[in-house]
Amino acid sequence: MVMCFEDPDNIYSSKKAKKDQDGGVITKQKSFLRLSILDISNPSSTTLSEDLSISLAGSDLHEFTLAELKVITQSFSSNNFLGEGGFGPVHKGFIDDRLRPGLKAQPVAVKLLDLDGLQGHREWLTEVVFLGQLKHPNLVKLIGYCCEDEHRLLVYEFMPRGSLESQLFRRYSVSLPWSTRMKIAHGAAKGLQFLHEAEKPVIYRDFKASNILLDSDYTAKLSDFGLAKDGPEGDETHVSTRVMGTQGYAAPEYIMTGHLTAKSDVYSFGVVLLELLTGRRSVNKKRATREQNLVDWARPMLNEPRKLGRIMDPRLEGQFSESGARKAAALAYQCLSYRPKNRPCISTVVSILQDIKAYNDDIPIGTFTYTVSSSPATPSPGVRLTSLQNTRNHYNSRSPAHTARNHRLNLRNQLNSPMRNEAGGERY
Ligand SMILES: Nc1ncnc2c1ncn2[C@@H]1O[C@H](COP(=O)(O)OP(=O)(O)OP(=O)(O)O)[C@@H](O)[C@H]1O
Ligand SMILES: [Mg+2]
Repeated sequence: MVMCFEDPDNIYSSKKAKKDQDGGVITKQKSFLRLSILDISNPSSTTLSEDLSISLAGSDLHEFTLAELKVITQSFSSNNFLGEGGFGPVHKGFIDDRLRPGLKAQPVAVKLLDLDGLQGHREWLTEVVFLGQLKHPNLVKLIGYCCEDEHRLLVYEFMPRGSLESQLFRRYSVSLPWSTRMKIAHGAAKGLQFLHEAEKPVIYRDFKASNILLDSDYTAKLSDFGLAKDGPEGDETHVSTRVMGTQGYAAPEYIMTGHLTAKSDVYSFGVVLLELLTGRRSVNKKRATREQNLVDWARPMLNEPRKLGRIMDPRLEGQFSESGARKAAALAYQCLSYRPKNRPCISTVVSILQDIKAYNDDIPIGTFTYTVSSSPATPSPGVRLTSLQNTRNHYNSRSPAHTARNHRLNLRNQLNSPMRNEAGGERY
């Protein structure tokens, strides 16, 4: 297998100074490829709705009015509340096929900028500009936007299973099976690969469990491009930025120097892979001091197959492929390397995960195999039993009634409750 690592001499020695809009001096890029945020307008301008619709013509984004989005979400009713992050609250809505020619009837998620929050027009614009042009099965689809007076909204395809964060860490959620975890890791890595290998590469900068949304069949889709940056161009090796991101996920060298490379995303990927293996959050202040930072705690055990059992998620109840887990742990170890040049590039990550997905032979016998319904309309979590040789539930050994109750609670939590990172997740 081809492993691609960057030229060590090139990592931090940018030959051409360039600061982005965070830093001041801006070198406008000469490119006929994807538009960058700087090509659209002055990011501090607030009157660019018209500008935007001209610049993004052909991107198939729809411009909505605030009144339309109020109808769609039943006036942002609390019954439709999905969660809230740094940008503002997110509500479920439903578009019917009479709203716009060519726009099919579908559920959507509407994100409303909190005018008193820390994010603002710049993050909204970055999201519209990047997601308006980048299309891939592992990126969430942006359907449209609203820019009216000071109001800024974003309209996305609705992701029925919410975020990986909610699926992995919420108290009442059923545990994700091993094969689903690896499917999610693989899908999310493919999303990153698409960004890193685009003709005009993008560094995502905010890779974390809450930004990985899940479709009904657990296809992972990256969301939240508010912090995304155009990657270095020509002979530049990094982009210099103000340090932004989420504690516990950002690469150490990026925090220390502000130098951003695709390898910063690979580090964050390693953190999420570790979360998938351990079922623990990247930062949890409620744990004993030496276990609060997941990477610090787990790293020494990742490359020691005999110690792996100590860190694997107990909620898996041992139902995972040992060889797959060893390979995934070794991959996480590489991604979390202190030295960016020792981290694999994302295409290597994708192909290793592709291999791991095929390791199912040594999953302990005595388990059910679940397949997942792909119908978004399915109201239950949609897990279907395909093997009836055994009586033990793959998720847990509780009664069907108990499991059904968990399913209902899980669904209700996904749809209704306020969602903030319960532990950790502080922004830089
Ligand atoms: N397209 C979507 N479909 C379904 N639910 C969504 C969608 N987009 C967001 N959500 C829900 O809204 C919640 C808040 O999302 P948001 O991206 O605003 O914040 P966050 O990722 O939790 O935090 P942060 O601001 O740090 O990124 C998500 O956790 C998710 O459950
Ligand atoms: Mg998010």
